[in-house]
Amino acid sequence: MNHLRHVKIAGTGMYVPPKKIDNKDLESLMDTSDEWIRQRSGIESRYHIEGAVGTSDLAVEAAKNALKAAQMSAQDLDLVIFATLSPDHQFPGSSAILQAKLNLDTVPSMDIKCQCSGFLYAMNVGKLFISSGQYEKVLVVGAEAHSPVLDMTTEGRDVSVLFGDGAGAVILEASDSESRVLDFALHSQGEFADKLWLEKPGTAGGNWINETDYKERRHFPYMEGRYVFKHAVTRLVEVVNETLELNQLKVDDIDHFLFHQANLRINEKVAATMGIPSEKIHSNIMKYGNCSAASIPMLLDECVRNEKIKTGDKVFMGAFGAGFTWAGGVFVW
Ligand code: UT7
Repeated sequence: MNHLRHVKIAGTGMYVPPKKIDNKDLESLMDTSDEWIRQRSGIESRYHIEGAVGTSDLAVEAAKNALKAAQMSAQDLDLVIFATLSPDHQFPGSSAILQAKLNLDTVPSMDIKCQCSGFLYAMNVGKLFISSGQYEKVLVVGAEAHSPVLDMTTEGRDVSVLFGDGAGAVILEASDSESRVLDFALHSQGEFADKLWLEKPGTAGGNWINETDYKERRHFPYMEGRYVFKHAVTRLVEVVNETLELNQLKVDDIDHFLFHQANLRINEKVAATMGIPSEKIHSNIMKYGNCSAASIPMLLDECVRNEKIKTGDKVFMGAFGAGFTWAGGVFVW
């Protein structure tokens, strides 16, 4: 693909709310155990919002941290892109709420709803706005407040123990340096929408939400865990190969692999299949659980701040989630 201009990540940031929930804390709410959660997913804790805090409040903090790292002010931004599956409201999108909280007057803002792959879709969109010459500086945020829609009882345990709240952000800007975002591979397959979804409220089915929907638990997230697991492993392996080929790279050329944090076992299987050395794979699911669109930018920020990612390193990012959607991308730090 020919690009008019190169694009780099100028700064990263993340934020989680203060309330930490350990696996042990869940044992008093539902029939589950620390052992089951650790063994099946690798998760040890997650964070939940409290009080009047919404998704955009988490996003604001991550955005401010990314702006600080990029040595920019919010007023420098030309566009806000917000990836989330758990917006503050049905409409308008959380990007508009975030835009106002950053005091951005009339700067454009847009939401991307591609679930766990949302951040990579959003980053690709942001990159194209800059490489085309339309904008100079773009804020890309992935943020989720899953906890308000989780069923924290035994009936909802298969999903509710896995998900956490949090936000991650990057600032993209035009670049003349070697530091740059390379090409992305994006996919979706809507025929599997009902394998992982929050069906109601929604316009499909002749009503927004009714008594039957509540009785049949359609207002809680539903996941066929094993089905999703198998597809995730297959599609992630495919998208690593596809993305590397697209960028004329090999597995050995990549210094760090940042996979979506849905399950430690998924990422271990992908690594084993592809022969990726374990020291190149980074994880933070133990601390934060699955934060959907926020997982990759949170992990990226941690790796940058811990100086695991160094100047010139090549970094792969890969995600799979509801839709189904999946995506891969590479950048040079
Ligand atoms: O981010 C979007 C993409 N999401 C994913 O990629 C997630 C993919 N799926 C997974 O990660 C795994 O399938 C899970 C972690 C969700 C589940 O692990 P699993 O090994 O596939 O377990 P399972 O769903 O087959 O359930 C095994 C047993 C069941 O009991 P029986 O039928 O064997 O008696 C469940 O009822 O574990 C039971 N179970 C639980 N037990 C204790 C389900 N949830 C829990 C729980 N605590 N929280």
